[in-house]
Formats: sequence, structure tokens, C-alpha cells
Amino acid sequence: MEAAEIRKVLVVGAGTMGQQIALQCATHGFEVVLLDQSEDALEVAAARLAGLARQVADDPAFAEVDLAAAAAGIARTTEVAEAAAEADLVSESVPEDPELKGRVFAELDRYCPERTIFATNTSSLLPSMYADATGRPDRLAALHFHQPVWSATIVDVMPHPGTSEATVETLLGFAARIGQVPIRLHRESPGYVFNAMYNALNGAAITLAANEVASIEDVDLAWTTVTKMPNGPFAMLDYVGIDTAWHITDYWARATGDAQLTRNAAFLKGYLDQGRAGAKTGKGFYDYGG
Ligand SMILES: NC(=O)c1ccc[n+]([C@@H]2O[C@H](COP(=O)([O-])OP(=O)(O)OC[C@H]3O[C@@H](n4cnc5c(N)ncnc54)[C@H](O)[C@@H]3O)[C@@H](O)[C@H]2O)c1
Repeated sequence: MEAAEIRKVLVVGAGTMGQQIALQCATHGFEVVLLDQSEDALEVAAARLAGLARQVADDPAFAEVDLAAAAAGIARTTEVAEAAAEADLVSESVPEDPELKGRVFAELDRYCPERTIFATNTSSLLPSMYADATGRPDRLAALHFHQPVWSATIVDVMPHPGTSEATVETLLGFAARIGQVPIRLHRESPGYVFNAMYNALNGAAITLAANEVASIEDVDLAWTTVTKMPNGPFAMLDYVGIDTAWHITDYWARATGDAQLTRNAAFLKGYLDQGRAGAKTGKGFYDYGG
């Protein structure tokens, strides 16, 4: 499958990233299906997509696009067989768990055509952790987006040792077709390029707060005052989703047994236990009036 032949994109996982990736593909002329295991998640996604379309209507990236029509044109389903039929490319954005991702791809492998390329949007895992489970390791690589997808347009294209060169070429070409700037990684590396730097910042910020060295507000104030950037690490994490940050921290805490990571995971979990998952739930480290 060459990049120019891709027509139908199956986006798996209708959460924060799945919604944005689906919209990005739909606004660039692709037929898009959004698959989730939960009807409720699909309902929420439909409402958020309509909201997103209104919110970004003035963004120069969408100057020539009928955003509302693109958002409304995204099909939604919980049926894997139906979603997989005729898919040229799968973009997976289910939670950060290698066993789950492997299971999701294994099921898709049963229903997708031979030609279908599998792309994973994992933040911190390595595709090789679940490449064999996909049933088509040569046609699997990471295609990793940043958010918001339409303005933070870097995508990492990261093969695992078994990815074919043709798959890498297809993903580089596809990324360009959806208005993204692809960066090609030469080998697997957790956190890719931007995130490797960004995760170090987040880890340091969470450690400061979890160890009660400084408040989240003062950590953010230190960052914004010196860098002149509008948001500090905790305000940015509210947009990433504290649940996603916790999944990543908790996974690596358990994988390494590192005491500080374990403390950091517990610190994040404390917010989740209060229903504070970030901007998408109206409150996280900060309140968003929702
Ligand atoms: N949030 C970010 O800024 C960001 C950025 C880049 C990459 N990522 C990565 O993208 C992935 C998704 O993150 P997110 O923040 O969008 O998560 P999210 O929790 O917002 O969404 C995940 C969605 O997956 C669905 N899901 C769970 N199990 C499923 C299954 N078996 N089949 C189909 N759908 C299923 C859930 O119902 C949910 O709607 C993670 O691997 C994350 O690390 C996140």
C-alpha cells in the first residue's frame, strides 16, 4: 500500500487523540471511521468533534475547509468487522497498555485487508512490545501525533526492527498528505523526539509537586516566567489528560520499580480519584468551569 493509494482511515479509540486524528484526516479528504469499544465514548466523541469544529473554525489551518461537514462525515461504530472492511490504514489511540494494544491489533488483523498498514500512536511504549501480536509486524510502525494535531504538526514515524521500509515510506507520505511534518526515527526510542524532551520536563515538575517541594502553581509560575511560554507543565498536562499521564507513569513505575516514579504515579492518581482528569473533564490541576 503506497501513501497515494490510501483512502479509508480507521481510527481506533475515540478519546482525546482519536478525535483529533479523525478530524485531521477528515479535513484532508479521507474517508474516516472512528471505532471504540464504548457507545458512550462514541457519543461523547461526536459532541466533542462538533465542538472542536466550532472551536478551531478560525484556525488558519482550516481556512479552506468545511469543518462542520468534515466532523459530521466521520463514521462511528463499535463493530470491529464493519470498521475494518476496506481500511487502508489503521491509526490506533487506545490507552497506553502494551497488552491492550496487542489485543486490539490482533483482532483488527482478523478483519482488515492484507494491505492495511497498522500505525500506533503510543506515547511511551515501543511498537516492538506488541509487534508480533498484531499478526503483521512488517506493516506496523508508530505514527505519533502531538496535540493539538492541526497546529502541533510534528509526527514521529518510528519503525521497530521488523517494520518494512515500504511501511515507513507509506507512513511518511501519509503524514504529509494530512498536513503533518513527519520526523523519521532511525531506531526505536521511548518518547520519540519532542516527547523525550517534554517527558523529562513533566517528570521533573511532577517530582517537585509529589515530593511537596513546591506547589503546582509555583512550578508553573517558574516555567512561564522564565521561558515566557503561556503555560507551565501542569497546565499543559491538563490538556494531555491526567489519566493519560498516570497510565504512562504507572506503567513505567511498575516496569522499573522506581520509587520516585511510584510516588509520582500515586500523586497523579490522587487527582483521578477526585474526578479531576484534566480539561476534558472540566477540572484537573486547575478548574475549567466544567
Ligand atoms: N493525550 C495526549 O496528549 C496523547 C498524545 C499522543 C499520544 N497519546 C497516546 O494516544 C493513546 C490514547 O490516548 P488518549 O489521551 O486519546 O486516551 P483517551 O483515554 O482519551 O481515549 C482512549 C479511548 O480508547 C477507547 N478504548 C479503550 N479500549 C478500547 C478497545 N479495546 N477498542 C477500542 N477502543 C478502546 C476508550 O473507550 C477511549 O475512548 C495512548 O497510547 C496515549 O499514550 C496521547
